[in-house]
Amino acid sequence: MEMREQSALTEKLLRHIDKGTTDLASSPYKQPVLEYTCPEIAQLEKTLFFRSKPLCVGASPIIKESNSYVTHDLTGKPIILTRNEQGKFQAFLNVCRHRGARVAEGSGKRNSFICPYHAWTYGMNGKLISRPEEECFSKSKKNAASLRTLPSVERDGLLWIIPDPTESLIDLEEPLGALGNELSSYNFENFHHYETRVLRPKINWKLSIDTFLESYHFSVLHKNSINPIFYRSQTFDKYGLNFRLVSPRKTIGELKNSSPASLDLLPHIVGIYFLFPNSFVIWQLDHLELWEIYPSVNTPGESVAQMSFFTPEPVRSKQEKEHWEKNLDLVMHVVENEDFPLGEGIQSGFSSQAQDYLSFGTSEPALSYFHNSITAALGLPKAAD
Ligand code: FES
Ligand SMILES: [Fe+2]
Repeated sequence: MEMREQSALTEKLLRHIDKGTTDLASSPYKQPVLEYTCPEIAQLEKTLFFRSKPLCVGASPIIKESNSYVTHDLTGKPIILTRNEQGKFQAFLNVCRHRGARVAEGSGKRNSFICPYHAWTYGMNGKLISRPEEECFSKSKKNAASLRTLPSVERDGLLWIIPDPTESLIDLEEPLGALGNELSSYNFENFHHYETRVLRPKINWKLSIDTFLESYHFSVLHKNSINPIFYRSQTFDKYGLNFRLVSPRKTIGELKNSSPASLDLLPHIVGIYFLFPNSFVIWQLDHLELWEIYPSVNTPGESVAQMSFFTPEPVRSKQEKEHWEKNLDLVMHVVENEDFPLGEGIQSGFSSQAQDYLSFGTSEPALSYFHNSITAALGLPKAAD
């Protein structure tokens, strides 16, 4: 984050804390319950948001070295993310061009992908290198038997793809806009992948996202976990369809008399960068997290949340491992044992017909902004006041 931005944000946060205020939306918002439950809307969302538009599917450190790869199955398509010998990021459908078997599992380093069914062998660039009994296949078609390439781009330490191989190249200028500059200031590519964990809550994917979008609930739901660490005040800034939420830690008071030149706000905040439609880059005190939230393939009432945790330095000692393990466990505890179980109660209550709309107050501006963007993109009617 640029110094000028840190300085302005520090001033704003301290002012909010002094006055007991927070950033506000211009009006309350009514969110239709139907958008969390309707199978037709869920299908439309998959087509609109999870097939032909850029999705952030990882951060550069998950394939840090040349010839490394990781499989990714959460978009609803089987995908391999690779970094080739020259360090270039590429993405392929994890589908053998012979008879469709998966050519890779998990993650690792290698020079080629050998299909486990009949040993067709592909280079890290997706090209078919060899196949047993070559003479039995059409030579002229060998080039056409490469793994299907997906549009992909690596930028500011993040890996973006479009899951549809028929789409053209990715242009991130429009979706990232000014947020790109701020994300690049974290130098995400220099961080180190510590661990990835996956949760499968029985809640709609947007309800999973909602749990990250306000601090109104901290003093109630999280009173014994993270509430003692944070102030309620929060800033909210829009960048196109993306946005930034910043919550100050209780330590921010130390900055009251700092000169703008020596100011370092980052150890005193959690910075949540939402990347439309489904990812968060989260700066927490001294490390980065990438959260990806996807709809379940089965039902609108389930989702998948993947969290990857990144440390600024490689973890070398037992002591360092204990430190990061404690951090990771706290983050996962709050989401897994507090946010998501509460969300599952909400999701199961939707069918009770208690109400047609949820209410977002003006002090929950990110919720109304996110849902207004989704509803508008779907072409659905907005709720009347
Ligand atoms: S399905 Fe891959 S080699 Fe046959
Ligand atoms: Fe929460």
